[in-house]
Amino acid sequence: MIALASDHAGFEMKQEIGRYLEELKLPFKDLGVPSGERADYPKYGYLAAKAVASGECDKGIIICGTGFGISLAANKVKGIRAVVCTDCYTALLSRQHNNANILALGARVIAPDAAKLIIKTWLQAEFEGGRHQGRLDMITKIEEGKIDFIN
Ligand code: RB5
Repeated sequence: MIALASDHAGFEMKQEIGRYLEELKLPFKDLGVPSGERADYPKYGYLAAKAVASGECDKGIIICGTGFGISLAANKVKGIRAVVCTDCYTALLSRQHNNANILALGARVIAPDAAKLIIKTWLQAEFEGGRHQGRLDMITKIEEGKIDFIN
């Protein structure tokens, strides 16, 4: 299950991505915003992040004007690794190396067709584990205030 959320700036793209996920027969949960009326991105970043962190959804796709604000909010939730991607290379590496569990997109930055290619790349890519897992474990320690790997 994919958590899908946006603010007003990402609303149209969210709707289009929802249709795209339907085409791909990938189940998703639309967490809002429900219309294109002005909305605060922290709320929607948080809702998607909570859905992923709780295990209700395996991954999330979140959209605002740039992808920045909504990803900043999502990354405040423990266990969330949200990344803003504007191309397929960074989308691929964010899965292979960083095990990103939320993809953030900027509706004012990239075209809908580019967003779809990025999403397809991101959803198909697999985390490589190994040395990358150790680094993610270090991030988790930072999150938990257990910074015992310095020096
Ligand atoms: C809304 O105008 C805009 O600030 C928001 O969508 C996002 O780009 C913030 O990072």
